[in-house]
Amino acid sequence: MSSTQRTAAAATVLAGLLACSPSTGASAPATAGLAAESSGEPHAEHAGAAGIGDADFPLDGNGGYDVAHYGLRLDYDPRGKRLTGVTAVAAKATQPLTRFNLDLHGFEVGAVSVDGRQAAFSRSGDELTVTPGRPLAKGAKFVVKVAYSGRPEAIKDAANLGTYGWITTSDGAFVTCEPNGAKTWFPANDHPSDKARFDFEITVPAGLTALANGELVGKPRTSRGKTTFVWRERHPMATYLATATLGEFELREGRTPGGIDNLAAVDPAFRSSLGRVYSLSGQITDYWAGIFGPYPFSSTGGVVDDFATGYALENQTKPMYGGFDPDESIIAHELAHQWFGNSLSVRRWRDLWLNEGFATYAEWLWAEHRGRGKAQETFDTQLARAATDPIWAYPPGRAKPDDLFNESVYTRGAMTLHALREKIGDTDFFRLLKDWNTEHRYGHVTTAQFIAMAEKVSGKRLGSLFDAWLFTPRRPPADNR
Ligand code: TRP
Ligand code: ZN
Repeated sequence: MSSTQRTAAAATVLAGLLACSPSTGASAPATAGLAAESSGEPHAEHAGAAGIGDADFPLDGNGGYDVAHYGLRLDYDPRGKRLTGVTAVAAKATQPLTRFNLDLHGFEVGAVSVDGRQAAFSRSGDELTVTPGRPLAKGAKFVVKVAYSGRPEAIKDAANLGTYGWITTSDGAFVTCEPNGAKTWFPANDHPSDKARFDFEITVPAGLTALANGELVGKPRTSRGKTTFVWRERHPMATYLATATLGEFELREGRTPGGIDNLAAVDPAFRSSLGRVYSLSGQITDYWAGIFGPYPFSSTGGVVDDFATGYALENQTKPMYGGFDPDESIIAHELAHQWFGNSLSVRRWRDLWLNEGFATYAEWLWAEHRGRGKAQETFDTQLARAATDPIWAYPPGRAKPDDLFNESVYTRGAMTLHALREKIGDTDFFRLLKDWNTEHRYGHVTTAQFIAMAEKVSGKRLGSLFDAWLFTPRRPPADNR
């Protein structure tokens, strides 16, 4: 929270003053937040910060409010590659706000309103600054609506994060947004520390299918050559996990053996994978519910599109596989993320091993369950890597913004968990995995919280083990294995 917070009384006075100031047409300065504070511009001290406070990703997310709900109404034309959208963001001000930012990449913004009244706005880079006609008091609930259109532009970061966001395919779009690509298709507080519920209303040419998170609400409606799909994710979700993947799909719907709604969807090019993706996703979801605790969401499944990203993303309730037939290991990984990453989310990207280390360890557990080698053997093989291997130089407990998805975050993160398991024993280790989920279900987590819970569950001091595995740029010494 900013040091320039004012009392509610001061905000009320300010509201009176601002009531007669020009509120529309006049745009806020190009940069809001911190930069504006020194500009001498009136009321700049009530600007929401341009970033949510993740020092490694300073412009991701925004300050001054907390989103409760996104309502996305989208119409996509795959031929013209044009997206027309109206996004309604319901939020609560966490400080007095004369203006605030949303993250949005590209598009033409047509109109912005706050609580139904037209609001001024300006754009600078991926920051959309909104100046409501009336300032918002701390604690005020408000709805900001943004109408926008244009050709979505995926983010291409060849050196580090690859291509992500709204990715155009031959028949539609493949939408996978980690870490900050939600802004390529809707105005967002685009950082996992602000989760919200989502409603989607997605209109596509008749014959295509739009797949979003959660469950379908009613039957898709077709009129005048277009079909509208309504989806609802009723559990909190980080923006990077939202999807609106659309195109030609073949579907299989039903329930997992344990009774969870299950939906598999594959591009016709992957028709032969449909049955496998459906049944493996169901079996694995049920298996993880036994190991990690109850499944956190209302449905599960998997989507294979024909766009060859070569990666997968754990989109909430619907992992996406980009252009390949997923094997058991990657399905196990993406479904483990429904607990580790999706239900329990990072507050800061540097703690990413809490997602990737756990999901990778889940792959090892699944292999063992299927009789394809013990986790201990996988660990031993990894530990045999040369002392000069880069995995030992990269401490996974502090994921680097310029190399966020380094293999160490995955593999050495998983090794950390195995080292912990060896130290505290199976009973405490698996109790810890369940307690961790129960305690932080739908919330946020940090590495320090995990270490504290591991110590509590085991009654052991574990500081040196975690230091060696997570925070030291060397292969851990023998006494910490
Ligand atoms: N979280 C993904 C996984 O481990 C990998 C990933 C990182 C990703 N960045 C991405 C996937 C961007 C899609 C888009 O399964
Ligand atoms: Zn992962």
